[in-house]
Amino acid sequence: MVSFTTLVAAVAAAATSVTANPIEQMRARGIQPGQGTHNGFFYSYWKDNGGTVDYNNGERGSYNVRWTNVNNWVGGKGWKPGPPRKVSYNGTWANHNVNSYLALYGWTTNPLVEYYIVEAYGTYNPSSGAQRLGTIEDDGGVYDIYKTRRVNQPSIVGTASFDQYWSVRRVKRVGGTIDTQKHFDEWKRQGNLQLGAWDYMIMASEGYQSSGSATIEVKA
Ligand SMILES: *[C@@H]1O[C@H](CO)[C@@H](O)[C@H](O)[C@H]1NC(C)=O
Repeated sequence: MVSFTTLVAAVAAAATSVTANPIEQMRARGIQPGQGTHNGFFYSYWKDNGGTVDYNNGERGSYNVRWTNVNNWVGGKGWKPGPPRKVSYNGTWANHNVNSYLALYGWTTNPLVEYYIVEAYGTYNPSSGAQRLGTIEDDGGVYDIYKTRRVNQPSIVGTASFDQYWSVRRVKRVGGTIDTQKHFDEWKRQGNLQLGAWDYMIMASEGYQSSGSATIEVKA
């Protein structure tokens, strides 16, 4: 949640002007923010104040979402608890010109960690300003490893301070298989990045001060 740390709220003023009926109607179709299970998959959908998110769970492990003038939202389908697994996914995600991520996203507790394996991002590279700790090869691609620190920010246990661990794929893609064990092992080996007890793991879409859409499916 909220990982675009260095950005300024440049579009906040514009966001208030769009509350047209069609968007309200679209929103009425979607579910409310929260967590649950659907078709045997865990899902989580979170947003802060501002804008609208029309998030819908679809067939099998799929979801579709359209977000409009949000401040920050993140959600998707996966597993809870989310121990290491190979995550195959596919879908449509074309938010390259807006501030957004497509990422395998999760949390651990003790230590509290928020992690991202970023498959594609839009106008903001999440590794901007962070120190690279190493690299990982996975499924034919190279990912760079980073760590960032969040202080008094929203988390799964309320407002807290915690580390974010990152793998960021150099060549963006939408669809493939992520061997999460490989990332977790290399984070520890190359960056001394420790994870805790598995909380949830989802194939997430995230938007920050943007509008966009996605249809993503994870496979069991
Ligand atoms: C994912 O791929 C399967 C075919 O392997 C297809 O049936 C399904 O519609 C795709 N899901 C999405 C969200 O594109």
